[in-house]
Amino acid sequence: MAAPGRPPLFPFDTPPSTDPAAEAIRLLHTDPVPRVRLASGHEVRLVTRYGDVQRALADPRMSRAALATPDAPTIVPGLQSPDMMPNMDPPDHTRLRRLVAKAFTAGTVELLRPRVETIAAGLLDRMLAAGPTADLVSALAEPLPGIVICELLGIARDERGPLLAFIEAMSITTAFDQETFAATGAVAASHLLGLIERKRHDPGDDLLSELTQVHDEDGDRLSEAELLITVMLLVGAGQETTTAQLAKSVLLLSRHPDEWSRLVAEPDLVPNAVEELLRVVALGHAGQPRMTREDVAFSGRTVEAGTTVFPVVNAANRDPAVFPDPDRFDVTRREAARHLSFGRGAHFCLGAPLARMELQVALHALVTRTPGLKVAERDDELAWQPESLTRGLRRLLITW
Ligand code: HEM
Repeated sequence: MAAPGRPPLFPFDTPPSTDPAAEAIRLLHTDPVPRVRLASGHEVRLVTRYGDVQRALADPRMSRAALATPDAPTIVPGLQSPDMMPNMDPPDHTRLRRLVAKAFTAGTVELLRPRVETIAAGLLDRMLAAGPTADLVSALAEPLPGIVICELLGIARDERGPLLAFIEAMSITTAFDQETFAATGAVAASHLLGLIERKRHDPGDDLLSELTQVHDEDGDRLSEAELLITVMLLVGAGQETTTAQLAKSVLLLSRHPDEWSRLVAEPDLVPNAVEELLRVVALGHAGQPRMTREDVAFSGRTVEAGTTVFPVVNAANRDPAVFPDPDRFDVTRREAARHLSFGRGAHFCLGAPLARMELQVALHALVTRTPGLKVAERDDELAWQPESLTRGLRRLLITW
């Protein structure tokens, strides 16, 4: 409880789970645009309703670039670099995004589906052969998106080590150690420069070779800092979110055996189930904040220019104005795909078609090959990563 006159602390102190914080849902109904305080002392606003979150994410009066400084309000201090696509406003954002966008269109991604199915099948073969129990995270949820993004970029999985260490440092939402961050960043950058050098001499048919060429031939369109951070972003975003979403989805399904049985009986429901899981599974505390460039109204309240606004996406995904009976998990829900889990507007998740496809392939493989799947851990035994951006699972023991 906050002291009188003092806004409550955000993120709310809530144990990691597949659900959004109860406090965020309460606010959606009672106080949709509250003032809150961050551990840094900054006072900011939250928006929790669907329409407000949509506006905070997509309205051109909301700036990401204004918050790309080391002392700006944030709950993820490692993600403040101004050279990072999510932290840019147009026209810089448009220029950088266009360079990588074509690798991630729905059409390009669909061509990868057979390869992703083969990778998933191979991982499940190995998991089933080593049964009767397995850790779903290390058997499938981590390697599937990891192998796919490495193949896209044209790097070996075991070449990612220093990059992953930095990505982990970047996505910490708790105590932040600037020195460790800078040191792991320097190691990752020098490692990545080595990989880029190799692509320069021996280019392949892959995204890293392509981005290296864009940088070399037209350096003003892609600076070296942007090249490094974009590759890091793709390795990180391509991995952590999808891993967390898949493991949390399986956990949630295991706690709703009737919904699982519907998928086993009718695997064609998997694509809609993936959308419903994206809607109900809470990945982090909030989406990336924006700063108002001018006064902006949210739910009839004026938020002054220069205010930092955090869109609480997982609360908006439970807004009854858009999702009737919003707490009911229903794999056949018609409006499931209206969730805001991939954002909205110019920064809409670049990897959404890829993430969707990977999640569909993985879930389809699980319902068809392990129809008797159960999670072999009680809620109090689950191993969470409370300090990471996605609040994912370190491990998920299953039987089938
Ligand atoms: C379940 C999986 C995923 C979720 C829930 C997710 C969610 C998001 C969200 C909410 C944003 C928008 C952030 C904002 O508005 O500021 C975003 C942006 C982004 N995502 Fe994803 N993502 C996922 C998977 C992926 C994958 C697989 C990739 C690619 C390899 C990816 C690459 C990106 C990139 C590059 C951006 C920045 C786009 C921009 O700023 O224009 N994501 N993601």
